[in-house]
Amino acid sequence: MLASAGPGDRTHHMFSFSSNRFAIDLGTARLRVAKSGSDTIVDEASSVVLQKRTGALLLAGDEALAAVERTPRHAEVVFPVKDGVMADAEAAALLIQHILKKGNKDRTPARFHLTLGVPTGLTRVERNAYLEAGARSGAAEVELVETTLAAAAGLRLPRKDPKAHLICEIGAGQCQVALLSMGGVAQACRIRGGGEEWTRAIRAYVRSAHHLLIGTPTATEVKHHLADLNPLNEAEQAPRLLVQGRDLITSIPRSLKLHAEELGAAILPQAEKIGQTIRQTLQGCSAELTGDLVDRGILLCGSGAHLRGLTEWLASHLDCPVHLAEDPHQAVIRGLSHFMNEPSDLPQAGD
Ligand SMILES: Nc1ncnc2c1ncn2[C@@H]1O[C@H](COP(=O)(O)OP(=O)(O)OP(=O)(O)O)[C@@H](O)[C@H]1O
Ligand SMILES: [Mg+2]
Repeated sequence: MLASAGPGDRTHHMFSFSSNRFAIDLGTARLRVAKSGSDTIVDEASSVVLQKRTGALLLAGDEALAAVERTPRHAEVVFPVKDGVMADAEAAALLIQHILKKGNKDRTPARFHLTLGVPTGLTRVERNAYLEAGARSGAAEVELVETTLAAAAGLRLPRKDPKAHLICEIGAGQCQVALLSMGGVAQACRIRGGGEEWTRAIRAYVRSAHHLLIGTPTATEVKHHLADLNPLNEAEQAPRLLVQGRDLITSIPRSLKLHAEELGAAILPQAEKIGQTIRQTLQGCSAELTGDLVDRGILLCGSGAHLRGLTEWLASHLDCPVHLAEDPHQAVIRGLSHFMNEPSDLPQAGD
């Protein structure tokens, strides 16, 4: 049933064309959906709550995220994508089905075409998992598009430009760096670990330095509202945030005032890993292409790129201009949506 061919893998079922067209960026943390003919982008958590015994869907999207670390024994929260890659096609299909139905007056859309984002450099088996998720969700046709190409299109980088652009997309579970020229990928690198690494590092720091166990949602709040790679630049008095957790010694709930500057050492290693991945991508490139970046710089996208101080830190670490894209979280879905509407803009196999 699954047919695949080059960068634009497709599944074809009975129909060669479907009037309903959707583009989906299914990430480790967030699911983003665009529909042909509409400017609205649906943005929900990339998670479901399933009944353990039957596998039946209990909650999906943001409602499922609210159940993290709160589920009763008969239910479990499942994130279908792990470290940026599809890990559970069945759960992904349930999630996609639910979100499409919710946006379609509670009815499953008929015979739809799906443009689905996939990370760069996947194996055939990994790509097939995306095709399977799309087919199981009810799509009549599934087209896979690499998210680095989609990000470039979403950021409106000129397609015909032979000069290089370097984009670094930082998601929740992965970081992808791609050097693009003439609308295609000249060099790309992908590492596991994105924004979630910062959350983990913050949890681990609070645990070891303050003997306090905080949940992932709390650590995520700390990352969004306090963590800063340049905390002292922000204000004369570095910001602080009150967090609640469970004391590791007494097991009693306790509050703690966290200071931005004490998190610096915990969040630095992931920033260094990203810097190293950018360097590695550049190492494989011609001097001409690398030279183009001296003026143009590096463009950051993906929601993980929002981490305070990251743009400045990378610029000084790499000694090169670094810019945060406008609406960095929507770059990929905007690009997928573009290719959904203009499939002829996709580089073909052999291009
Ligand atoms: N203001 C912020 N500061 C720091 N991190 C943020 C901020 N807003 C969102 N993030 C982080 O960005 C990450 C989500 O990014 P994004 O939505 O691009 O990921 P994704 O597409 O779901 O994952 P991936 O592409 O890795 O599979 C999460 O780790 C989230 O905590
Ligand atoms: Mg992503």
